Amino acid sequence: MAIQWFPGHMHLTKKAISERIKEIDVVIELLDARLPGSSANPMLAELTSGKPALKVLNKRDLADATRTPLWLDHYNSLPNTRAIELDASEAMPARRLIDACHALAPTRGTMVKPMRVLICGIPNVGKSTLINTLTGKRATKTGDEAGITKVEQRLVLADGFYLWDTPGMLWPRIIVAKSGYNLAASGAIGRNAFDEEEVALELLNYLIQHYPAMLEARYKVEVTPGITDEQLLEEIGRKRGAVLTKGRVNLQKAAEIVIYEFRGATLGRITLETPEEFAGWLAAGQLLDAERQVKKDKIETNRLIKFKKIPRPARSDKSDKPGEPGES
Ligand code: G4P
Repeated sequence: MAIQWFPGHMHLTKKAISERIKEIDVVIELLDARLPGSSANPMLAELTSGKPALKVLNKRDLADATRTPLWLDHYNSLPNTRAIELDASEAMPARRLIDACHALAPTRGTMVKPMRVLICGIPNVGKSTLINTLTGKRATKTGDEAGITKVEQRLVLADGFYLWDTPGMLWPRIIVAKSGYNLAASGAIGRNAFDEEEVALELLNYLIQHYPAMLEARYKVEVTPGITDEQLLEEIGRKRGAVLTKGRVNLQKAAEIVIYEFRGATLGRITLETPEEFAGWLAAGQLLDAERQVKKDKIETNRLIKFKKIPRPARSDKSDKPGEPGES
């Protein structure tokens, strides 16, 4: 199953970013520290035309503290890029964030040359929480209004420091299947767009390999070698009393428990991908996507030929035949 959704403000947000970008000094991308690769927008670099980027790994309090440094190193090694980790509900995140912006654009930040920052991130990543903490008040969620009357808003964080907010944006198509599952597990995708049981199984599959001790501690189960995600989900359901008539396990209920306890870190602090793993998934996804595109192009060409919209291509083997033009 591929998880897909209708990207609400996608086109308006894209337009807003590309119009605003000319006068922006730093682009902050808020990422979910539990799934930095999957929560990053693959189109952002292109949309922001290589402007200095600050990657903020938010929800660090929920993420695996041994894995967050791997992601910070990864982003800090990219050109024109800095990364910090954050818990958006921290009382004083502003200083670190502002310092990081100054490091990226050292000539900006005065009344004459103000620092102009654009902030973006997928839904539920913690953008409103961060903005509320930064401004010290309860701001409206950008793009929340019915009919999308407002696609961006400008906030004054300090003298000479302006922040443009954009609506939470998901991209229309994910080419890394695993990213769809991780985004769904994290709460970034509306619950109607995915099947909880399937997402919980994918999540368990990863946790069996990387966090078995947490599963054992939380669910009082034994994660024996070779145990499958299906067996484990059933076991968790049984342990939690999610049982239907005739002793059948309510797998839907069990799945909801697992997802809920992952989201709130009741299960423990978990990160669902390392930079290396994500790079592998991305490469495989891009290859599949390229193959799919070749197939699609072929089908489209055949359709156009059938309806005589384009001429049938000349046979390439003609010139090889004896006596045909081209023979020397
Ligand atoms: P958004 O604007 O990007 O869509 O996200 P928003 O700030 O609304 O945050 C989504 C949820 O994530 C909120 O929880 C918020 O409290 C939580 N959150 C944001 N940043 C952090 C963080 O750094 N750490 C943790 N642990 N949670 C964070 P909620 O349950 O949906 O709402 P609420 O009742 O907590 O407000």
